[in-house]
Amino acid sequence: MTARAASPTRTRQVLPWRLDCHVAAGDDATAADELRRALTAPRPTIPPRWFYDDAGCDLFVRITDLDEYYQTRAEQQILDAHMDSIVAAHSPTELVEIGSGAARKTRAILDAMERAGTLTRFIPFDVSPGVIAASAADIAAAYPGTRVHGIAGDFVRHLPRIPRRPADGRRLLAFLGGTIGNLEPTPRRSMMRRLARLMRPGDALLLGTDLAHDPEVLVRAYDDADGVTAEFNRNIVRHVNHAFAGDADPSDFAHVARWNARASRVEMHLRARRDLQWSIAGLGIVVPIEAGSTIRTEISCKFMRAGVEALYADAGLVPASWHEDADGRYAVSVATRS
Ligand code: AVJ
Repeated sequence: MTARAASPTRTRQVLPWRLDCHVAAGDDATAADELRRALTAPRPTIPPRWFYDDAGCDLFVRITDLDEYYQTRAEQQILDAHMDSIVAAHSPTELVEIGSGAARKTRAILDAMERAGTLTRFIPFDVSPGVIAASAADIAAAYPGTRVHGIAGDFVRHLPRIPRRPADGRRLLAFLGGTIGNLEPTPRRSMMRRLARLMRPGDALLLGTDLAHDPEVLVRAYDDADGVTAEFNRNIVRHVNHAFAGDADPSDFAHVARWNARASRVEMHLRARRDLQWSIAGLGIVVPIEAGSTIRTEISCKFMRAGVEALYADAGLVPASWHEDADGRYAVSVATRS
């Protein structure tokens, strides 16, 4: 399905924005199967995508404002300080942002490209068509003359739907927010290879990664004093209940954030406060949960520079620059395709 914004005049050549939507109703079956498998596994989990209903998106925005959640501010600080030099080094004509949203970070990148006079096209890609539509309209209005081509799809299947870049252009592909850390090592490498396939020689990848450092600081970022992250975590139960006629009481679960040193990651779990039978009619399952046992809802891997560079090498990419925030807790790095 393709939607186009109403063109102000019939003769206008370049439409201000378009949206290709690849997430159809039929995809829900895939998501339901994945969730059923995850909840009935020997160690039950819930895929993190179930965090992000409307309430979950609002809670995530509140998380990014927390004192403890330094990641968003650190990334913004890096982009504000280094985007001009990154743009000067690679002269991108278009930005492809994976997991976009109309956030401030997008503007920091587009502003730098506009200052350099190279910006011609913005391609936001996100699972949520609503997010894409809002950001596409917004950005098209704020950067007149820039084509906006939004794509709603999922990371695994629909990245190849991103249009080729013109032969005389250069692409900057952005995957920010530390979201690469939500993937286990094998799917993480697959994701990087899929990203690399969207690049041609001369194109650049901009990647945001949270770094391994003081475990106490890391855990606090996922277990804030105001309990916003706890609410975000419990909201996943509410969302699953709502989507599949489930009957669990979110308050029967305690929020747990823990540092897994062996895997260098923070994990979020929901720990049952009593024995439960979570009936989820829409999935045709009843999940028995013993008091004290946990359901894992998220992994958030924390990297070292060598690990990020190994990930690049595996995908056939070459490190170009590495930028940390003032506290050395977060990095934005650039890699090119040779
Ligand atoms: C936006 C997915 C990268 O893992 O830090 C924040 C999500 N979870 N607090 C992260 C999140 C709990 C966040 N990502």
